[in-house]
Amino acid sequence: MPTRRYLRGTLICATSLLAFVNQPVKAAPTEVPSAASFYVPYLPGLHQDTTHPLHIYAGHILSDPDADSAASTDVLAHLFFVMVKARKFADKERLMFWFNGGPGCSSFDGLMMEVGPWRIDGEGGLRTIDGGWDEYTTVVYVDQPAGTGLSYTSTNHYVHGLQQTTDQLMEFLRTFYKVFPEYETVDTYLGGESYAGQYIPYFADAILSSELRMPLRGVAIGNGWIDGRNQYPAYLDYAVTHGLVDESSQHYKDSKEKTNRCMTEFRGATIEPVHIDQCEGLLQFILKSKSRIVDGQPKCVNIYDIRLEDDEPYCGMQWPPDLKNISSYLARKDVIRALHAEAKPESWVECSGRVSSEMRDYLSPSSVTLLPSVLEKIPVLLFAGDQDFICNYMGIESMIKSLTWNGEKGLGKVQTKSWTVNGMQAGTWVSSRNLTYAKIFNASHMVPYDAPDITHDMILRFMGTNFSAIVDGSARIPSAVGDDIKPIFMDSDDVPLSSSLPGKTPEQTKAQWDAYYNAGSVVLIFLLLAIAIGLCIWCRLRRRPVRLSRDPQLEENIPLNGYDDEQAHRKRKGKERALEDESGAAIFDVGEDEEGYTSDDVRKERID
Ligand SMILES: *[C@@H]1O[C@H](CO)[C@@H](O)[C@H](O)[C@H]1NC(C)=O
Ligand SMILES: *[C@@H]1O[C@H](CO)[C@@H](O)[C@H](O)[C@H]1NC(C)=O
Ligand SMILES: *[C@@H]1O[C@H](CO)[C@@H](O)[C@H](O)[C@H]1NC(C)=O
Ligand SMILES: *[C@@H]1O[C@H](CO)[C@@H](O)[C@H](O)[C@H]1NC(C)=O
Repeated sequence: MPTRRYLRGTLICATSLLAFVNQPVKAAPTEVPSAASFYVPYLPGLHQDTTHPLHIYAGHILSDPDADSAASTDVLAHLFFVMVKARKFADKERLMFWFNGGPGCSSFDGLMMEVGPWRIDGEGGLRTIDGGWDEYTTVVYVDQPAGTGLSYTSTNHYVHGLQQTTDQLMEFLRTFYKVFPEYETVDTYLGGESYAGQYIPYFADAILSSELRMPLRGVAIGNGWIDGRNQYPAYLDYAVTHGLVDESSQHYKDSKEKTNRCMTEFRGATIEPVHIDQCEGLLQFILKSKSRIVDGQPKCVNIYDIRLEDDEPYCGMQWPPDLKNISSYLARKDVIRALHAEAKPESWVECSGRVSSEMRDYLSPSSVTLLPSVLEKIPVLLFAGDQDFICNYMGIESMIKSLTWNGEKGLGKVQTKSWTVNGMQAGTWVSSRNLTYAKIFNASHMVPYDAPDITHDMILRFMGTNFSAIVDGSARIPSAVGDDIKPIFMDSDDVPLSSSLPGKTPEQTKAQWDAYYNAGSVVLIFLLLAIAIGLCIWCRLRRRPVRLSRDPQLEENIPLNGYDDEQAHRKRKGKERALEDESGAAIFDVGEDEEGYTSDDVRKERID
């Protein structure tokens, strides 16, 4: 019930306050910071619903597996997180860790454009939205590996390979659960997209065989890069199916030949490759046929959403349009201070080219090799927006067809069902032996960006949320997968008595009464909260006066024109398999010019 959650916030705060009072002269406790030290009472420009304020925690967690052996001058790896607590209670508490891809792309993408509770409002601030996954699930957005987003370490300490990435995340989790022990028994999920299709199976596999007691109940991957062997050849298949390349053209023949050449690279591989340099140029090469000049400006297809065009050579890197304002917002010192992120020396960029180029993913087998063992233990949801090119659904379907898990190859005899949300065709849904595949119509690479209600419905279904137990908010949005119809909550005054619409279930009536009851307790809770927050602020002020001092003069002078800078960084943005990073390691070179690649092809495409 909401009451207990509010009270818990109060207790944590009060407890850590007591701890502080008890040992006033000691330096900050060495390893595990208090939960209260991460509390974000105020986020600049966030216009909150005062009756249901968001409960936000953010900051750095030491996540360095080599911390013990490090020299005292080393900058240890600190991962950054933002946790937004569930706004409402459904049938049980749930926790999700969210990861964007890249490698090197920040989970602020997920927080501020996809599954999070707010968006930039176009006036320098943030507006809260409905339909974020935090409605019933506490979501922790993690910037990892170190160097990504607001996380940091010294550049000579950036991770190489998926195993090191996993070791770092495991360190993060160990400390996270020490800071927030109340989540140790809460059903936990991992979610993310794109290159997180590599991270997530690695993380799940490590968690499931670790000493961590967290109950990992499932993982969800959107337009994931999981299996190059099946996903590279899908570029041409997709292009033909969606009218981007004409099968009778010379360009098709050339593309086919390049695809074949790419596939020969897989034959000699000793470990299953995550990516192959020779194959990386395919994406741009195939889409070349759609490049054109509009008013003197060369345009190309947006590789994340084939319905859109972008300027050459960005081809999607300048998308979504929110990015520019998000960068300006995260460049503000008051924002960084409020998020407890001041220890990060550089300003936020969406994707770090350096993190991407240090990731030597040839060191570890592609995550597709881990999927079967993960599927033996927990459910996996693979979802895909059908307008994405870079990690398109045809590649994901082809991977599923050739994957053997839980005793059989492919989905088997199960039926693909149609899926409607809010009276519209949302996509298709199919489940077999712990693997669920959901295809979302009219959605890009960043599915929740285009289809927030649909993806919310999807994740609630995947997590087995008891729809009978939820009231208002998304409870009012009807949906169905095949004949599995979500019961819809309606206020009695919404519905004429004679209506044929489904009425309230007994659970919904109970939940509604609980809500009324809780409203009665709200005054008392707020009073307690106000006192506790007041004490916490006081306590933090004493420990770190700098953090909360707000100098309006200073804030006025923060340059909001970070765009030039940002453009420079964007060139090495990992998400879109960015342009060749001048400072990047040679391992990301696309290969020889004899391959016939033009300089346009000397782009490094990574996957957000
Ligand atoms: C970004 O902010 C500017 C004003 O600061 C606004 O005019 C513009 O519409 C915003 N862009 C988006 C995509 O919200
Ligand atoms: C599927 O996942 C469950 C846990 O949710 C596990 O107990 C089961 O063994 C897995 N395997 C199959 C074939 O369903
Ligand atoms: C979404 O996609 C479906 C099937 O691809 C199509 O029939 C429908 O018109 C599309 N809807 C919108 C709003 O674009
Ligand atoms: C849904 O939740 C209610 C309690 O709120 C419970 O009585 C009911 O059995 C649950 N349904 C399922 C399928 O678990």
